[in-house]
Amino acid sequence: MRKAARGGKEEIKKVKHAATPAGILFALIAGPLVNGQSLVTRSIWGYTADGTAAPIYEISDGRIEARVAAWGARLVSLRTPDRAGKMADIVLGYDTLQDYVNDTKTYFGSTVGRYGNRIALGKFMLDGKQYQIPVNNGVNALHGGMVGFDRKVWDSREIPNGVEFTLVSPDGDMGFPGTLTLHVRYTLAGDTLRLDYSATADKTTVLNVTNHAYFNLNGDDQGDVLGQKLEIMAQEFTPVDAGLIPTGALLPVAGTPLDFRKPEAIGARIHDNNEQMKLGNGYDFNWVLNGPAGELRTAAVVTDEQSGRKLTVATTEPGIQFYSGNFLDGSFTGRHGVKYTQHAGFCLETQHYPDSPNHANFPSTVLRPGQTFHSTTSLTFSTIK
Ligand code: GLA
Repeated sequence: MRKAARGGKEEIKKVKHAATPAGILFALIAGPLVNGQSLVTRSIWGYTADGTAAPIYEISDGRIEARVAAWGARLVSLRTPDRAGKMADIVLGYDTLQDYVNDTKTYFGSTVGRYGNRIALGKFMLDGKQYQIPVNNGVNALHGGMVGFDRKVWDSREIPNGVEFTLVSPDGDMGFPGTLTLHVRYTLAGDTLRLDYSATADKTTVLNVTNHAYFNLNGDDQGDVLGQKLEIMAQEFTPVDAGLIPTGALLPVAGTPLDFRKPEAIGARIHDNNEQMKLGNGYDFNWVLNGPAGELRTAAVVTDEQSGRKLTVATTEPGIQFYSGNFLDGSFTGRHGVKYTQHAGFCLETQHYPDSPNHANFPSTVLRPGQTFHSTTSLTFSTIK
């Protein structure tokens, strides 16, 4: 981990480079980028309470600008053009590191783990042994327990067109067995922001990592997302109980407000008289994505008539949690001083199903020594007429 005293001088300097020597020269002389290349700019965003320097990076391909931070290997901002070319930030977030440190509720833009989403009672059995993760969501564990991967300063380094973050989670971290080494790479090329995850462990463990960005395609300060249209490539979902823990069943979406096989406005059926919708207080469920898992295939598409922005999410993961920002309640003040109220953003968390360690019929989240976990999710930005 990179350490520096508060205000350490050598950390303040900015480093700019492109993917190739030609790109560097071009960037120095001109500014506009060679097609398919991104510039990466690094600076120190701030320091955590123990004095650890937390870098932030800007990745720009000349059209799209992403900022990613080592605190939680987090997507902090994402500026894309609308149909008229006007730029806006389309992810919810804060200006300062301190604002993120203070927020233990929303997980804005972070990499969540070691187990993203819920584990019932924080308990599971693995190879005949029971493990207990500290509970932090009623009686259940959410997003890896109290101090998940979203609350760590990850190591970071620039790579062509992006940044690689690395976290070594020690044996016993939040109760999980085995030392886990996890890499998350953010790269920007051809209007696609790609997230590649890879991991190994020295003892058998469970792993479920995802990104927790909240999107508002009309801009993060433009009210709610209820009018934006969503399509999810799934025929089934995993119904939940009152604690949002899957019952273990897979049910068809047909005939329910969870049917997004054709594009529908997020808000069109959000108040329907449906048992699951009441339990979720809006959308907060896992969809069983059409196969084959392990291959990068389109999982969801969102369009916004107002701005003309379109987001296409593809993933190798078997599931996706669509969460309609139900718990945002105006108490989170984001950048530009905007209060993020209910449904100010939506999350599309590509993932394994919640509570998989307790459901033998769900795709396995077990990672054994000698295996390497790989997962990819891509976010592609375009516009509609
Ligand atoms: C996930 C969960 C939600 C909520 C958010 C964070 O999406 O499924 O219930 O906890 O994270 O607020």
